[in-house]
Amino acid sequence: MAIISSFTSQISGLILLLLAFLPIQSSATSSSITDSLIQCLNNRSDPSFPITGLLYTPGNSSFPSVLQTYIRNLRFNESTTPKPILIIAAKHVSHIQAAIVCGKESRLLMKTRSGGHDLEGLSYVTNTNQPFFIVDMFSFKLIDVDIEEETAWVQAGATLGEVYYRIAEKSSTHGYPAGICPSVGVGGHISGGGYGNMMRKFGLSIDNVVDAQIIDSSGELLNRKSMGEDLFWAISGGGGVSFGVVLAYKFKLVRVPEVVTVFKIERTPEQNLATIAQRWTQVADKLDDNIFLRMTLDVINDTNGEKTVRGTFLTLYLGNSSDLLTLLNKDFPELGLQTSDCIEMSWIESVVYYYDLPIGTPTTMLLSPTPQTLVLFKSKSDYLKNPISKQGFEFIFERMKEFENMLVDFNPYGGRMSEISEFAKPFPHRSGNIAMMQYQVVWNEHDIDATNRHMKYARMMYDYMTPFVSKNPREAFLNYRDLDIGVNNHGKNASIEGMVYGHKYFKETNYKRLTRVKARVDPDNFFRNEQSIPTS
Ligand SMILES: Cc1cc2nc3c(=O)[nH]c(=O)nc-3n(C[C@H](O)[C@H](O)[C@H](O)COP(=O)(O)OP(=O)(O)OC[C@H]3O[C@@H](n4cnc5c(N)ncnc54)[C@H](O)[C@@H]3O)c2cc1C
Ligand SMILES: *[C@@H]1O[C@H](CO)[C@@H](O)[C@H](O)[C@H]1NC(C)=O
Ligand SMILES: *[C@@H]1O[C@H](CO)[C@@H](O)[C@H](O)[C@H]1NC(C)=O
Ligand SMILES: *[C@@H]1O[C@H](CO)[C@@H](O)[C@H](O)[C@H]1NC(C)=O
Ligand SMILES: *[C@@H]1O[C@H](CO)[C@@H](O)[C@H](O)[C@H]1NC(C)=O
Ligand SMILES: *[C@@H]1O[C@H](CO)[C@@H](O)[C@H](O)[C@H]1NC(C)=O
Ligand SMILES: *[C@@H]1O[C@H](CO)[C@@H](O)[C@H](O)[C@H]1NC(C)=O
Repeated sequence: MAIISSFTSQISGLILLLLAFLPIQSSATSSSITDSLIQCLNNRSDPSFPITGLLYTPGNSSFPSVLQTYIRNLRFNESTTPKPILIIAAKHVSHIQAAIVCGKESRLLMKTRSGGHDLEGLSYVTNTNQPFFIVDMFSFKLIDVDIEEETAWVQAGATLGEVYYRIAEKSSTHGYPAGICPSVGVGGHISGGGYGNMMRKFGLSIDNVVDAQIIDSSGELLNRKSMGEDLFWAISGGGGVSFGVVLAYKFKLVRVPEVVTVFKIERTPEQNLATIAQRWTQVADKLDDNIFLRMTLDVINDTNGEKTVRGTFLTLYLGNSSDLLTLLNKDFPELGLQTSDCIEMSWIESVVYYYDLPIGTPTTMLLSPTPQTLVLFKSKSDYLKNPISKQGFEFIFERMKEFENMLVDFNPYGGRMSEISEFAKPFPHRSGNIAMMQYQVVWNEHDIDATNRHMKYARMMYDYMTPFVSKNPREAFLNYRDLDIGVNNHGKNASIEGMVYGHKYFKETNYKRLTRVKARVDPDNFFRNEQSIPTS
């Protein structure tokens, strides 16, 4: 094995050396790199689980569809988007192990993709001009729910919708606190610290992870015990990408009531939206932990065709409607909640409702791997630490109206989120936060001018919001990946550049700890992207 591997690395080193002297990037260039990678993969994977039929090069007729199936931001579905030289549709652990060993030998950049929702497409795109290949995890979908133990082992390629459905299939009083969009993949979501509409009651998904399986940079399969607490800590919110390939997580399920209550109400500026929004920033993080009351602002045309801001208040309450009415009419009467607004349902039905689908939509929709709509988009995140005044909101509304398709989400924190130490997980945004905000701009035109224009809108909105949000650092949420806040091309400056986005995503202490774990488990920096953790 050792002889083969050193021989292989000499060969591929030689090929790379020869390539350096070729004047033009010919297709022969990439095909010889690809050929030696494929040979290595065939040699390295377990012969009882042949890898051959799982390898897609750009020459395979199904390559585009395999690549596109898990593209979730159409900004990265352009002919100009850099393409991988190979996609490995892994089905067995040995395929992932082979990919890591061969990827290291060939010095190629490896990407791991689970659900493909990375907001900057980093699970299937690089902006660094390096040849790369993808390990696609979509076949790793096992979900093993144990109601007696109140746990579930879930593989990285499962989607959140599948997880929720499989839990509800076995129990009407259990759930799992994770993200709202059912097509999001477990691999990226959990490693990045997933939040959802039960976080005020139960914390983030990572606060309810009790074990994990990861394949490290030497191709070894580890669990929590064998990887050690530091690495387990790192892959619970520090992003999987810097540390290995996560194969599965074990979740601690949470208990949900038989009946939950939801409502969605809309308010316009004429209905005192600025006052209601101002009040929201004073109360949303202090409400009963069972209430998750999200505020979303967007811009619509009024009946005269004039632009106006709409406030949507979409809520999940873990309890019945009479309790919810009592609580909100005491703590947030400005919202004007009526009995007729409230709808009682099971928790699994509320998952579908919260995804904004009509009541009565079969919960089997949660098993569908494809999202309802696909668009081009750009998102950015912020943290709100102080209430915003009525005048502040009036300013925000006017600014939003300058743009097309601007949406601003306010996700309330507080409750359980404030009780957990900021060092317990790499995710540091705990007490002191009223809300996490997301600015999102979507569009459908596939041309560079439209893209540039909408990207500019997102950045301008972010600038307008500066006086209202966290400073030094201006904090950001890892799962809302944003390459505007700093990139690292792993040159000499990697550690300085890493500090910029690293401090925003993790704050200084957690970031330093992540770099120490990184240096120990992947000193050669094989697992990397534009915003991964550097080794120092
Ligand atoms: C429509 C939409 C809705 C969303 N809603 C929410 C929400 O409600 N709450 C929330 O917290 N976030 C939400 N997100 C963000 C989402 O959680 C992140 O984008 C998450 O990283 C996606 O995981 P994925 O597996 O689908 O993505 P991928 O693109 O496959 O992966 C994301 C990142 O993780 C890495 N990665 C993927 N799998 C593995 C693995 N097995 N091992 C190691 N590294 C891996 C990738 O290389 C990439 O860097 C949403 C995103 C979208 C597009
Ligand atoms: C793979 O194995 C074959 C046969 O054992 C050998 O000839 C070849 O050199 C190996 N290739 C690589 C890249 O390891
Ligand atoms: C891709 O094409 C090659 C060469 O034609 C073929 O050997 C291989 O089986 C194809 N792979 C898949 C997954 O179809
Ligand atoms: C992605 O682009 C390809 C090629 O232009 C196109 O066929 C496909 O429909 C696109 N995918 C989506 C979801 O729009
Ligand atoms: C509002 O009106 C403008 C111009 O008439 C139109 O282009 C736009 O699509 C409309 N927006 C919405 C959200 O309906
Ligand atoms: C609502 O739930 C509470 C417990 O939180 C219970 O005391 C009350 O009877 C319930 N009300 C209705 C109308 O079911
Ligand atoms: C290194 O960082 C400094 C300061 O941020 C910057 O001025 C310089 O251009 C960077 N050098 C490289 C090679 O990226």
